[in-house]
Parts: sequence; C-alpha cells; structure tokens
Amino acid sequence: MTVQFTINGVKVEAQKGESVIEVARRYGFEIPSLCHHQAVTPYGACRVCLVEIVKGGRKKLTTSCNYEVLDGIEVVTDSEAIHKHRAMVLELILAEAPDAEPVKKLAAQYGVNVSRFERSDTEMAQERHDCIMCGLCVRVCTEIVEVNALAFNGRGYNRGVGGPYLEAPQSCIACGACAWVCPTDCIGFVEEDGMRKVLKWDRELPMEKDENGRPIAPKFQLHYFKEKFGLPADIYKKAPGSR
Ligand code: SF4
Ligand code: SF4
Ligand code: FES
Repeated sequence: MTVQFTINGVKVEAQKGESVIEVARRYGFEIPSLCHHQAVTPYGACRVCLVEIVKGGRKKLTTSCNYEVLDGIEVVTDSEAIHKHRAMVLELILAEAPDAEPVKKLAAQYGVNVSRFERSDTEMAQERHDCIMCGLCVRVCTEIVEVNALAFNGRGYNRGVGGPYLEAPQSCIACGACAWVCPTDCIGFVEEDGMRKVLKWDRELPMEKDENGRPIAPKFQLHYFKEKFGLPADIYKKAPGSR
C-alpha cells in the first residue's frame, strides 16, 4: 500500500511500513544515524536521526529510523531546532565514546569537538570503551547471522554488551558482521597467526585452509554454515578455480 507525504516540502511516495529515514535517504535527503541499519529492526537508541514531523497540525521532534511513514505527514530533516538537538545528543555520545573516530567526525559536523560531559566512571563504563550501547551488533548477530551470540547484560551504568555474563560468547563464529556494522569501530576484528580474532568479545578461532594452504575462514564458522545450509563435507577444501 502506497503512502504519500512531504519531506522538506517535496512530495514523496513510500510503501506502508517503511521508515522515514529510509524514504528520506532514497529521495536524497541526508539524515545522520549511528544505530540504524536497514537490514535489521530499528531500535531508536542513539537519537541522532531526529527530524521534525507535523501530524494533524502538531509538530514534534522524533527519531526517524523507527517512525513509520504515514499519509499526509510533513517531515523536515534539518532546521535550527533539529541541529541544536542533534548537537546535544552527539555531545552526550561523544562523552561515552571520546576516541571513536566516526563519532568525532559526525559530532564535528555539528560543531561539537569536545564534550562538556564526562564518561560515567563505573568499571563497566570504562570497559565499554567507545561502545555507545546502540545494540546494532546484537541485532545483526541475532537477525542476520542468526547465531545469537550477543546480548545486553546488566542495568543502568553497569549495562554492557557481549556474551552471556559478559564472557567470551561460545557460539560466536567470528564472522565479523558485528564489527562491520559497529558505528564506533570499537569491536576490533583481525586475522593473524592462523587465527580469526574478534577482540571485544575475546573470541579467537583457528582458520581452515584450502588445499594451497590459504586461510579461508574459521573452521567453526564453516562448520556452522555447512550445518545450516546442508552443504557437502568437502565444500571448502578445494581452492577457487580447481573444481
Ligand atoms: S559494540 Fe558497537 S555495535 Fe555493539 S552496541 Fe557497542 S557501539 Fe553498538
Ligand atoms: S563475529 Fe560473532 S558476535 Fe559478531 S556477528 Fe559474527 S557470530 Fe555474532
Ligand atoms: S539512528 Fe535513529 S535512533 Fe539511532
């Protein structure tokens, strides 16, 4: 079902169920985001994607990644008020992730180069190091990779993300999808000494090699995909081009 509304005064069309951010981006309007990825369920954690929406004559600021399009709404993606709110939100996020380059870069675009706030001083807050608790890693691991290795643990200032009880997640296949989507680049993903390492989760897995001795992927990951998709036992053994 088609929905019609306006973005910055331009008439747009969308499918029912789409989010404002996705439609705006499709039409070329920029909206910043940190916790959004089109492939997973929106969570509305970072509040960087704030926009103004007029509905039934009433205007409000709201997050656009989890706001479903509606007939007749008027969306504004940039204004003085939006800019001010995004700057405040980014200043708070910068306090929690002071070394995260993507956050620093985005904050600078809103005139925020230093934060007046301080990182919470709990042990967990220090340990989170640049994690902004956006949950994108959890959603990708659960909804796309379907491994469910990650979860939120604890409450309030002692909240963290990781394996059960914040120990190395034993079901993690070290695929790297979480590191790929993390908006602050704080997970860390390396291959060295025949091992694939996902640093934040403290997960290290030995690599499988092809018949020419070249590393393919962690054995555990290949086993997971073989089981999941019912692939033949020797599927990964042959070097590319040798079949
Ligand atoms: S590790 Fe990255 S993706 Fe996961 S919650 Fe923290 S900032 Fe978000
Ligand atoms: S690397 Fe591990 S935790 Fe990250 S998405 Fe893959 S399976 Fe999940
Ligand atoms: S991108 Fe919308 S709340 Fe984070």
